[in-house]
Amino acid sequence: MIDDADIREDRALELDAEADPALRRDDFLIPPAVGGDFPLTAYFAGNSLGLQPRATRGELMADLDAWEELGVHGHTDADRPWVSYHEALRDPAARVVGALPHEVVIMNTLTVNLHLLLASFYRPTAIRHRIVIEDSAFPSDSYAVRSHVAFRRHDPDTAVLRLRPRDGEDTLRTEDIIDTLDQHAHSIATVLIGGVNYLSGELLDIPTITAAGRRIGAAVGWDLAHAAGNVPLSLHDWDVDFAAWCSYKYLNSGPGAVAGAFVHERHLSNAAIPRLEGWWSTDPETRFEMQPISSPQASADAWSMSNPPILAMGPVRTSLGIFDSVGMPALRARSLRLTAYLRELLEHLATRADLHIVTPADDAHHGAQLSVRIDTDVADLTERLSVNWGVVADDRRPDIIRFAPAPLYCTFHDCWRAADALSNELTGEGI
Ligand SMILES: Cc1ncc(COP(=O)(O)O)c(C=O)c1O
Repeated sequence: MIDDADIREDRALELDAEADPALRRDDFLIPPAVGGDFPLTAYFAGNSLGLQPRATRGELMADLDAWEELGVHGHTDADRPWVSYHEALRDPAARVVGALPHEVVIMNTLTVNLHLLLASFYRPTAIRHRIVIEDSAFPSDSYAVRSHVAFRRHDPDTAVLRLRPRDGEDTLRTEDIIDTLDQHAHSIATVLIGGVNYLSGELLDIPTITAAGRRIGAAVGWDLAHAAGNVPLSLHDWDVDFAAWCSYKYLNSGPGAVAGAFVHERHLSNAAIPRLEGWWSTDPETRFEMQPISSPQASADAWSMSNPPILAMGPVRTSLGIFDSVGMPALRARSLRLTAYLRELLEHLATRADLHIVTPADDAHHGAQLSVRIDTDVADLTERLSVNWGVVADDRRPDIIRFAPAPLYCTFHDCWRAADALSNELTGEGI
C-alpha cells in the first residue's frame, strides 16, 4: 500500500521528471481543459478515442496535395502511390500485433472486418455450430456473431455461448473458459473474444485460450480493439486463427479510422476456406487485366475488397510510425508503471470512499485501463470530473468509470489529477 508521501503531487512531478523514451507527449495534441486549475486536459479516454498526433495533419495535407496535383495519376505517381498505399502499413501494423507482414491487412472498420473473418472462420455444421463470446462482449460483437448464426440458419439464442464470470466476480478465469470449451467441445465452431475486455479492462490469456480452442477443433479469433497498441501481442506465435482491431483507440488514428485484420499464415493458401472478395483481393500484378476470376496471393490482402480510403490511411501510417519508434516493450514498461501508480492512488482513496477497482491487479491480466465501480450516478460524476477538474474519463452505466492512462501521452501528474479530482468529488477533500 502506498504511504502518505507517495500520494503527494510532488511525487507525481518527480516521477515525470525521470526520462522515459516511451513518453511522446510532445508528439500529441492534448485538448484544453474545460475546467480546473490546469490548462490541458488530463486525458484518460484513449481507450475510447486516442489523441491526435501532431504529425497527422501534415500527412493528411500531403495526400490532399497529391490528389490536387496529380488527379488520377496519384494512383501510381504520388510519392506514396495510392494503388499500393496499404502495403506500406503492413509491416508496422504487423509489429504492433506480433504477426508476419503478409498476415496483416489495414482495411475497413472493425465490425466489418469481424464479419469478413467470420464469413471465413465460422463454418457451422449441424453439430458444430456454436460461437463462443464473452457475456460482456462489446455489443457490436454480439450483434455480429448473432447475425452470422442467423445467416447460416441456426438459432442465435442457443448457438451463441456466452462466457460469464463466477457469481460475485467481475472478470473471467482462464480455467473456467477452458472448462466451457471442453464441455461443449463437439458443438463449438468458432471462438471470438475480446483480448482486453472493454468494460472490465481484463486482459485474457490469449495464448492459453487459443490453444484450448484449437485443441477442441474450433477456429479461434480475437477482437483486439482494446489490445492493439496497448499490450504486447504475438498473434503468429500464439497460433491465433484470425483477429481484428480498430485504430482509433490506443492506435490514435482518429475517429472511425481504418481498422486492421490478421489471418494466420497457415490459412493463407488454403483454398478450402471461403472468403468474400473484391478486386483488391486479387494479385496486384494482374489486377488491371480485369479478369472475371480472381487470383489472390497467399496474404491477408486476399480478404480486402475495395481500393483503400487514401485520405483515411495517412493517420494510421503516422500513428504506426510512432509505435515503431517507441516499440511495444518500452511502451508496455511505461504503461505498467503508470497504471500501477494510478491503482495505488485509487486504492488509497478507496480507504475513504466507496469505490472498487474491477480490473485485475496482476500485470498479466491488465493493460492501460482501470475500471472503477462506484455506486453513484457515474455519468454525472464523469461530467463533474471534466467540468470541475479537466479530467476526461468515461462512464459505462450503471456503475463503471474507466480511466486509461495511455502511456504515449499521459503523465504521472495526470494520474495524480485523476485521483485528486475523484477524491474531491467523492469526499469533498483532495487526495
Ligand atoms: C471491443 C469492441 N468491439 C467492436 C467495436 C466496434 O467498433 P467499430 O465501430 O469500429 O466497428 C468497439 C468500439 O468501440 C469495441 O470497443
